[in-house]
Amino acid sequence: MTGRVLVVDHPLVQHKLSLMRRDNTTTQLFRTLLREVSSFLAYEATRDLPVIAERVKTPLAEMEGVQIEGKKVVIAPVLRAGLGMLDGFLDLIPAARVGHVGMYRDEETLEPVEYYFKMPGGMTERDVMVVDPMLATGNTAAAAVGRILLEAPRSIRLICLLAAPEGIENFHAQFPQVDIVTAAIDDHLNDKGYIVPGLGDAGDRMFGTC
Ligand code: URA
Repeated sequence: MTGRVLVVDHPLVQHKLSLMRRDNTTTQLFRTLLREVSSFLAYEATRDLPVIAERVKTPLAEMEGVQIEGKKVVIAPVLRAGLGMLDGFLDLIPAARVGHVGMYRDEETLEPVEYYFKMPGGMTERDVMVVDPMLATGNTAAAAVGRILLEAPRSIRLICLLAAPEGIENFHAQFPQVDIVTAAIDDHLNDKGYIVPGLGDAGDRMFGTC
């Protein structure tokens, strides 16, 4: 079984993503654009959330409305770059819970190292959106998803801004059941593990640490 990848090719997303890629885009603008694009990604990533019917009384009549079913969604940014996507998700899902996964990529081995993990209670009844802007080797995302799956959430999906084909393949080889939502699939990874053409180091660009 191969996993599903949804590329959100909406013109607004692609326009904003191209602005983010420019090497002269300021930190402030990069952060703003990431937040905006993340909202569009959140919109698509939540498309298949289960809903339940509810009776609604409008000022004019009664009707059959809907509510998202179950406990509050969990947004799980992978620290630190995932934090840049959090507010865009919260703009659309303000009541969501937030779980944090602290992972950094060892620059030598490119392997993920966990240093922090905190999720809300009741995970078995929750749908989790793991957010990390760059799906490069796929190792960090796979480690984060693997760790969260130990909490047995009702569902889990991975949302990133950019993905490398190598990262998608590696991730889905380990978790074929986990859907990926991304704004673009780029050409390749370079020998330092950067996505090409990409946009550089997403964490550095959003926090101004370049
Ligand atoms: N992480 C980044 O921030 N950028 C890349 O291109 C790859 C991993």
